[in-house]
Amino acid sequence: MELFEALNKRRSIRKYRRDPIPKEKLSRILEAAIQAPSAGNLQPWRFIILTDTQRKMAIAEAALGQLMIADAPVVIVVCTDQRRSERYYGERGVNLFCIQDTAAAVQNLMLAAFALELGTCWVGSFDERKVSSILHAPDGMRPVAIIPLGYPAEHPTPTSRRPLSEVVQEESF
Ligand SMILES: Cc1cc2nc3c(=O)[nH]c(=O)nc-3n(C[C@H](O)[C@H](O)[C@H](O)COP(=O)(O)O)c2cc1C
Repeated sequence: MELFEALNKRRSIRKYRRDPIPKEKLSRILEAAIQAPSAGNLQPWRFIILTDTQRKMAIAEAALGQLMIADAPVVIVVCTDQRRSERYYGERGVNLFCIQDTAAAVQNLMLAAFALELGTCWVGSFDERKVSSILHAPDGMRPVAIIPLGYPAEHPTPTSRRPLSEVVQEESF
């Protein structure tokens, strides 16, 4: 798929078919995710892959009851290793770079999934402490995004974007 087609046509999918995802597709998606740029090439991302129904349900409940998460055959919780970025970049590493790096990986992941005809939705509304506890995340490992992944069972209408005239400025504000 052409890059601009993926950029323009990807939509958040909130209904999934139950069909399993072939291992090769999942690997390709994760390989695409780790091609993202990162500050100092530190690559602070971690991907926790969940397929167990009960664990997916626990994550869905921690995501303020967004139960569509549990319907996806695979749920990827993308975390960031704050300590890794802190060692090189201090406070900016913890509060900015590791989040930016990991968000870039999430975007790559979603576009790659779309190119392979799979649907995703970036889920950011969740109780961080609950998600960390379900995953037994060590200190400094912060969950950034929950990504349900599966074949789409819906074709959402395109979402709108603010026009460039509203968001692009020349020289200064
Ligand atoms: C940081 C972030 C958090 C989000 N959190 C949620 C969420 O908790 N639940 C949800 O259904 N969608 C969530 N979304 C998806 C957005 O609602 C969606 O991307 C936006 O409405 C644009 O629609 P599109 O992705 O189909 O273009 C989130 C997206 C981002 C980037």
